[in-house]
Amino acid sequence: MVIIGSDHSGIKYKEEIIEELKEENIEYIDVTQKNDPNDDYPDIANIICKKVLEDKRNYGIAICGTGIGISIACNKINGIRAAVCTDEYMAKMSRVDNDANVLCLGARLEVASDINKCKKIVQAFLYNEFGAGRHERRVNKIMDLEKGGK
Ligand code: RB5
Repeated sequence: MVIIGSDHSGIKYKEEIIEELKEENIEYIDVTQKNDPNDDYPDIANIICKKVLEDKRNYGIAICGTGIGISIACNKINGIRAAVCTDEYMAKMSRVDNDANVLCLGARLEVASDINKCKKIVQAFLYNEFGAGRHERRVNKIMDLEKGGK
């Protein structure tokens, strides 16, 4: 299941990404259906990530103006590995190398005006698997940092 949400800056962009999820027959939950111009991206990050963590098979798509603020907020939550991706390669490698479970997108970036590129970013994120092996050791080290590191 994909858990998607955006702050006020990305409402229209989120709808475009949802269209892509529908085209791909991907199940999703939109956790930000009311458009609140005064919302704050850390709250949206919290709602998305808590839901992502309910099931290991879940992924999140978190949108703010740049993707940066919401990714910083998402990465404060234990168990979340959020990646801001501005191209297909980053999206693919965030899965293969980093086992990212939240894709962060920026609604105010130039790339957001090219919906075909954005669709490819979303597809690359959703259709690539974690490479495991040596990457597992590294991701485990990231997760150790949540517990204060060694
Ligand atoms: C909200 O206007 C904007 O500041 C926010 O979406 C984001 O870009 C922060 O990183």
